[in-house]
Amino acid sequence: MTVYARVIGTGGYLPAEIKTNEDISKTVDTSDSWIFERTGITSRRIAAAHETASSMAEIAARQAIEMAAIAAEEIDLIIVATGTPDNVYPSTGCMLQHRLGIKKCVAFDIQAACSGSIFGLDMANQYIKSGAAKTVLVVGAEICSRIVDWTDRGTCILFGDGAGAVLLQAAEQEGILSTHIHSDGRFEDLLKCPNPQALGEPDVAGYISMKGNEVFKVAVNTLGRIVDETLAANNMQKSDIDWLVPHQANIRIIAATAKKLKMSMDHVVVTLQEQGNTSSASVLLAFNEAVRDGRIQRGHVVLLEAFGAGFTWGSALIRY
Ligand code: ACO
Repeated sequence: MTVYARVIGTGGYLPAEIKTNEDISKTVDTSDSWIFERTGITSRRIAAAHETASSMAEIAARQAIEMAAIAAEEIDLIIVATGTPDNVYPSTGCMLQHRLGIKKCVAFDIQAACSGSIFGLDMANQYIKSGAAKTVLVVGAEICSRIVDWTDRGTCILFGDGAGAVLLQAAEQEGILSTHIHSDGRFEDLLKCPNPQALGEPDVAGYISMKGNEVFKVAVNTLGRIVDETLAANNMQKSDIDWLVPHQANIRIIAATAKKLKMSMDHVVVTLQEQGNTSSASVLLAFNEAVRDGRIQRGHVVLLEAFGAGFTWGSALIRY
């Protein structure tokens, strides 16, 4: 019998504070029209002072657990993808486990920048397919606003805060059909966020720096290739995909991937206009939104994909 990792619940959380392009244009030399035309973003959410990756992860996770109608204790593995953990250790995964009141499961973090949720789905799939775990919670949670240099107009316009969650369980019905993840560590200089304390260089700014134009070109080409790889692995045609749920970095990158799939934008889940790039949270936030508003229905074939610092990139093809 083939065992699949089937989606049984999704959740998402966005902080209440809205920061518009107009707000940002009061502090750096930019404009609403420049940001919207180049990125598709009009506003993003900013976490309140008391919020952290683990507090946002808890809200998203509880929604997923409620949708799945399971007891939290049934979860045997928690994977949290974050580049903004509450602490270096304990992991945000362990903090989430405690917040959810689960005593026995395994919990840890992974770090793959904006591709984190896809890497998490890949791991969850491997654990479930091998029989090592039965019910796995994957969360992407980010407070990007705290690692953004608010004086750098090239990056501060892009990012937002939030958390997305998905619960997967071993099932005979189809679920994750395949996952594909990749890394290429040659590109640190194009996109990074240093950790000054660990580097022993407290004067280095622990903020995101990016050569946006160069990252853009690599992202478009790489995401085009991952579409081909995913379809070939599943012996599927472009027309077999019902929904594209892309990482929400830039509407022009998303549109290029949709074009590659010959897919109308009506079948692409886009959340970045009012959320910006929430890094590892973005794909799961978008997935949750389209599941909850009924666009994604049981039986639909959904392609999730992401690209981020590392570089890292990947996809997950799911029959919902
Ligand atoms: N407002 C006005 N002008 C600006 C702004 C701004 N906010 N930001 C940059 N500019 C200027 C630049 O200074 C430059 O001016 P110059 O020609 O006088 O030098 C000009 O606009 C063009 O700059 P580019 O960087 O070439 O602009 P581009 O069209 O590439 O858009 C952007 C920039 C939006 C950042 C785009 O490159 C992008 O989205 N890149 C990909 C981001 C991404 O996918 N990252 C991966 C995931 S993130 C992660 O993993 C953490």
